[in-house]
Amino acid sequence: MSVTIKTAEEIEKMRVAGRLAAEVLEMITPHVQPGVTTEELDRLCYDYIVNEQEAIPAPLNYHGFPKSICTSVNHQVCHGIPSERRLKSGDIINIDITVIKDGYHGDTSMMFMVGKPSVIARRVCDIAHEALWIGLRMVAPGMRLGDIGHAIQTYVEAQHASVVREYCGHGIGLGFHEDPQVLHYGRPNTGLELKAGMTFTIEPMVNAGRAPVRVLPDEWTVVTKDHSLSAQWEHTVLVTETGHEILTLRKDERQALAQGAA
Ligand code: MF3
Ligand code: CO
Ligand code: CO
Repeated sequence: MSVTIKTAEEIEKMRVAGRLAAEVLEMITPHVQPGVTTEELDRLCYDYIVNEQEAIPAPLNYHGFPKSICTSVNHQVCHGIPSERRLKSGDIINIDITVIKDGYHGDTSMMFMVGKPSVIARRVCDIAHEALWIGLRMVAPGMRLGDIGHAIQTYVEAQHASVVREYCGHGIGLGFHEDPQVLHYGRPNTGLELKAGMTFTIEPMVNAGRAPVRVLPDEWTVVTKDHSLSAQWEHTVLVTETGHEILTLRKDERQALAQGAA
């Protein structure tokens, strides 16, 4: 499959899907507290997406994934399966939401610090957040994906953290995972040149320790090999004629951007 350029009509649908995905994260935020199980978070998101948004939780049954959201705790990198596990103070958790509305996908994730985080937990969350925003700020026509990957990798490694290699961002639209692959490492002046109308995600996974990961016997949950903490933030972004538009911005981020803080 090749990289698609979205039409104006498709872009409008992507805006709607992106906004819905962001609103799920806003809805779930007050529920991410010590004592809640990740299964309870999954149920709240499923009900909200299906009943309030009249949308579809894309992960459910995607290549056999059993739940509606991904919940990845502490040294889990991504694709964690909601379960009876109870969150406790000091945990960090990535919640990854993908909704389908009118055929189109919106995909976004963020970290939550449960109760009181350790210094290192806060740090890995912050580094992954900045890594995402370094990538997002670069998105514009003429930019190449290798430039973005290189900038993210350079930043993360300068912080003495590491970038996961096995998973990457992706084109998105009618498909959940479309071309291109958006690597969070790379070399300048290489890779696909961005053009207006492309939509893709940036979603760097950052490990406090070394980069290698493995998949648990549940065949989904990705964890760091060295058991170090891992963090990830994700947005869906559109390349515009003049730069970019983030399709999954939350209210707090919109305000921060308006004040020039993000
Ligand atoms: N939302 C993830 C991503 O950012 C993909 C999850 S696939 C699942 O691409 F099957 F694990 F849900
Ligand atoms: Co994604
Ligand atoms: Co995602």
